[in-house]
Amino acid sequence: MKLKVKTNIDDYSIIIGKNLCSKIKKIISNEKINSQKFLLVYDSKVPKRMIRSIVSRFNKKRIDEKKIVFNEKSKNLKTVSSIVKILEKKNYSRNDCLISVGGGICGDVCGFASSIFKRGLNFINVPTTLLSQVDSSIGGKTGINSLSGKNMIGSFYQPSLVVSDIDFLKSLPKKEMICGYAEILKHSLIKNKAFFKFLEKNFSKILNHNKNFLENAIYKSCLIKKEVVEKDEKEKNIRKMLNLGHTFAHAYETTVGYNKGLNHGEAVLLGIMSAVKFGRQKNILNKDDYERIIKHLKKLNYINLNKYFKSKDISKIIFYMKQDKKNKGNKINLILLKSLAKPILNKSFEENEIRLFLKKLINK
Ligand SMILES: NC(=O)c1ccc[n+]([C@@H]2O[C@H](COP(=O)([O-])OP(=O)(O)OC[C@H]3O[C@@H](n4cnc5c(N)ncnc54)[C@H](O)[C@@H]3O)[C@@H](O)[C@H]2O)c1
Repeated sequence: MKLKVKTNIDDYSIIIGKNLCSKIKKIISNEKINSQKFLLVYDSKVPKRMIRSIVSRFNKKRIDEKKIVFNEKSKNLKTVSSIVKILEKKNYSRNDCLISVGGGICGDVCGFASSIFKRGLNFINVPTTLLSQVDSSIGGKTGINSLSGKNMIGSFYQPSLVVSDIDFLKSLPKKEMICGYAEILKHSLIKNKAFFKFLEKNFSKILNHNKNFLENAIYKSCLIKKEVVEKDEKEKNIRKMLNLGHTFAHAYETTVGYNKGLNHGEAVLLGIMSAVKFGRQKNILNKDDYERIIKHLKKLNYINLNKYFKSKDISKIIFYMKQDKKNKGNKINLILLKSLAKPILNKSFEENEIRLFLKKLINK
């Protein structure tokens, strides 16, 4: 399956399917990427045989490798600098290429490194988690974490190519499959009622690696994200809808502390739950759709904030919500739903309204 994403500068392809690693060299030349040298940066948890399958397709002299332990703590300037150092030492030119083989963190870090090295060298993203295949590899946002929070340093930089091989997902822990599913679900909620219905019926087939359902869900999810980012590349307007649940989610994961039992996608599911409940409380979201979405989240078992937070955490959560890049002035901006596939952007609320709401959800 193939999608073409149009951007202000150039178009790029997303190739989705099985057994793509063994064909990667051919895919790269079909896409007319004429780099002479490739630096392959990969996540330490990606199975070795998958990395070998890629590396073995290249002339040994033309490919360098760097294995990195990626997590939210290593999603920082030091890691970017370790990549840039190799590019400098080995005298890479702008026409050469950085290939990221890993999840969203690896892709965000490599995309950022590509954007700053000689003001931009070719970047190929080979996403290896469900979340990165359905979401983070599309749209050109790159970034790293800093003292002020998640993804606070970054750039918009488009890849030259995205290759999503679903064979990578075989080694992915169930928890990580659920993370990717969170973004698939988000895409259906903001844009496609029929896709939500498909997920209500088939979510367990997707999570249990039924190849056809999985490939189909990845394709549909990418298509929704592509359509949104093509209309608003730099997130001036409608792209904001992709942040449904994310203002809560970023605050949740930062409050818990990266990597302490609540990862990004799980935080997104809790964030979607919070945005849906808040929207209902404010009488913005209709009752029928509210009940359908909550029923689905209950099946996934991401509905209870008390599992992760205590009342004393609420001030910290509010603090991080106030850091959100979308906020203007003192109010907190939230993306909410009016109904399925009808998001509302640009609604802002006083911190006290959100504090009172969170007090109902977190009551231990
Ligand atoms: N740029 C964007 O538009 C965008 C959008 C959404 C999320 N993000 C970012 O993406 C990150 C989350 O991405 P993620 O969920 O992919 O997390 P991740 O990169 O941390 O990967 C999740 C875990 O899976 C492991 N892993 C990766 N591939 C594997 C494989 N094939 N088999 C087994 N284990 C594997 C990783 O080592 C890690 O432990 C966050 O930092 C978030 O900010 C970016």
